[in-house]
Amino acid sequence: MHYSTISFIIIIIPLLTALIQPCYSAANLRSFSSSIVFQVTGNVYPQGYYYVTVNIGNPPKPYWLDLDTGSDLTWLQCDAPCTKCLPAPHKPYKPSKDLVTCMDPLCASMHWPETITCNSPNDQCDYEVQYADHASSVGLLVTDWFPLQYTNGSIVKPRLAFGCGYDQEVQAPMDPPYTDGILGLGLGKASILHQLSELGVTRNVVAHCLSAQGDGHLFFGDEFVPSSGVIWTPISTTQIEKHYYLGTAELYVGGKTSGVKGLPIVFDSGSTYTYFSGEAYKALVSMLMNDIKGKQIYNANEDKSLPVCWKGSKPFKSVQDVKNIFKPIVLSFAKSKNVRFQMDPEAYLIISKYGNACLGILNGSEADLESVNLIGDISFHDKIIIYDNEKQQIGWAPANCNKLPNINDYGDPDHRGRCKPGRSNPDILYCVA
Ligand SMILES: *[C@@H]1O[C@H](CO)[C@@H](O)[C@H](O)[C@H]1NC(C)=O
Ligand SMILES: *[C@@H]1O[C@H](CO)[C@@H](O)[C@H](O)[C@H]1NC(C)=O
Repeated sequence: MHYSTISFIIIIIPLLTALIQPCYSAANLRSFSSSIVFQVTGNVYPQGYYYVTVNIGNPPKPYWLDLDTGSDLTWLQCDAPCTKCLPAPHKPYKPSKDLVTCMDPLCASMHWPETITCNSPNDQCDYEVQYADHASSVGLLVTDWFPLQYTNGSIVKPRLAFGCGYDQEVQAPMDPPYTDGILGLGLGKASILHQLSELGVTRNVVAHCLSAQGDGHLFFGDEFVPSSGVIWTPISTTQIEKHYYLGTAELYVGGKTSGVKGLPIVFDSGSTYTYFSGEAYKALVSMLMNDIKGKQIYNANEDKSLPVCWKGSKPFKSVQDVKNIFKPIVLSFAKSKNVRFQMDPEAYLIISKYGNACLGILNGSEADLESVNLIGDISFHDKIIIYDNEKQQIGWAPANCNKLPNINDYGDPDHRGRCKPGRSNPDILYCVA
């Protein structure tokens, strides 16, 4: 799986344990409805990941962070010093002296469900995260300023906790994303999204719009949630805790049921491709093979870009060339008949460098994902996907992700102007333009 990154977290190993009570009360601050928009760069193929540029520190420096709704912790490669840093676009982040201590609730949440024991209240908070593709990061939690620009132009600088990763590993032959770290957008307390909502900066809502042609947008806050046309489904919390789990679904291909039901579905933007568990994958491949019989398309076993590829009489230029050959794949959720996640060909096929159409839904059993069905970047193409942690629901709607949302300007997020601490909370600065 050269071109895939899977960030679904399997374990978090507790190393140390945590007390600094947050000295703010969030409830009465949560009155803003403003949002923050980031330009997203990347594609599913050939790059294999999407990232945003986030400015961190004072003065701020830019870092490229891989979007990941499958994990909570945001971390950057860090000069603490760095014992093992991977090739990256920027120099490792130099940590401020503001460490998160072992007693901080954020530290405890990073280690959940294990409990941590602190030897001393001032111990640093160590972390280790391991992703399903066996990549990992080890480091300590620090805090620093994140200058962010609201869509109305105003700038806020919240102080957020994140990981300073000094030891990163990837499993060969994985090609790690060429980024400085990971932007964890999961539903845990350590997520910067949760921190922003605690500080009253934005609502605990994140949305992404990834274009099949590459690039797109990422939104914090609920200002860009379309007022109609969104299919909503509750986030299930009974299973696969800490992930955006949507409950179980039945698989349909080209309007016909596969007979495979009860598939647990997780949304994870940190996964390049979509993974179906053994039985669903088998049914999918056989139904697609059946559907294309008699059409001008043949197996291209010689193309190793992905496990299943098809060739035409001449090379394909884009997924548009095969749109009338391949039918939609639908996940129909058990909770409600009307909740259906439809994947058109651009949400499950890529055109390889040889001009073949390759299936971007992979065998999850081969990737050790067991029964989980992971919906990854490819299947989010040309849709806005909204993770609403306030209302505990996930929504999706067709969208043109190439188009800039209707805002004046991305402005100058690394603004260095004068900033003043908020009256109710010193961990957030308000700046004048
Ligand atoms: C922009 O929105 C933020 C958050 O809602 C608010 O605090 C700020 O005053 C607004 N700025 C302007 C110029 O309206
Ligand atoms: C999926 O992977 C499993 C585990 O490697 C394997 O046993 C199974 O045959 C694969 N399914 C298909 C349809 O290739």
